[in-house]
Amino acid sequence: MSDAWSLAQRRLHWWSAALVVLTGALAVLMVWLPFSQMLAKFLAYQLHKTFGLLVFSVVLVRLVLRARHPAPALTGLSPGVRRLAGIGQAGMYALLLAVPILGWLTGQAAAGPVPTTIFLVIPVPHVLDPNPALYAWLRPVHQVAAYTLLALAAVHAALAVKHHREGVPVFRRMRW
Ligand code: HEM
Repeated sequence: MSDAWSLAQRRLHWWSAALVVLTGALAVLMVWLPFSQMLAKFLAYQLHKTFGLLVFSVVLVRLVLRARHPAPALTGLSPGVRRLAGIGQAGMYALLLAVPILGWLTGQAAAGPVPTTIFLVIPVPHVLDPNPALYAWLRPVHQVAAYTLLALAAVHAALAVKHHREGVPVFRRMRW
């Protein structure tokens, strides 16, 4: 068995990491921009939605690849640490799917919903009518789930650096 993930798995891992960071940064920007800068605010929302939906698509492909290819052998970590890492990774996969779905629903429930598009070109269908009560519930749920995902990703990255420093070849397994 190889000691590295497949090329497609490695590339999609780094693409999803970059897209999550970008989507989170755009979330802060789009909310912060004043309504007087309506065009910039609208574009930031559309890019946030676009990159968030790309995260969802990339993660679906990653899950299919993960189901087809077993994880490469990893030596140097105790079974307990490996189990904890597995739980953390399962949590991230769950949030990587849940956060975009919650975001997609949040945008639809908002009063006077803005269309959801990918790069302003491909329309994404809506399944909800505007619903202020549902929006008031969905928005903080999407927000808390997203910040939990970003926090888990930060811990995941910090632990990868720690293991790398201890001589465990985690970055070689996940090299670009
Ligand atoms: C990994 C994917 C995503 C991450 C990390 C993420 C992150 C966030 C965060 C942190 C906020 C809260 C911003 C704040 O209030 O300070 C937010 C808000 C929001 N996001 Fe996402 N999001 C993701 C995907 C999506 C998707 C796919 C959509 C829609 C298709 C979406 C639509 C929204 C909407 C509508 C809001 C509420 C903004 C408001 O009501 O003003 N998000 N997102």
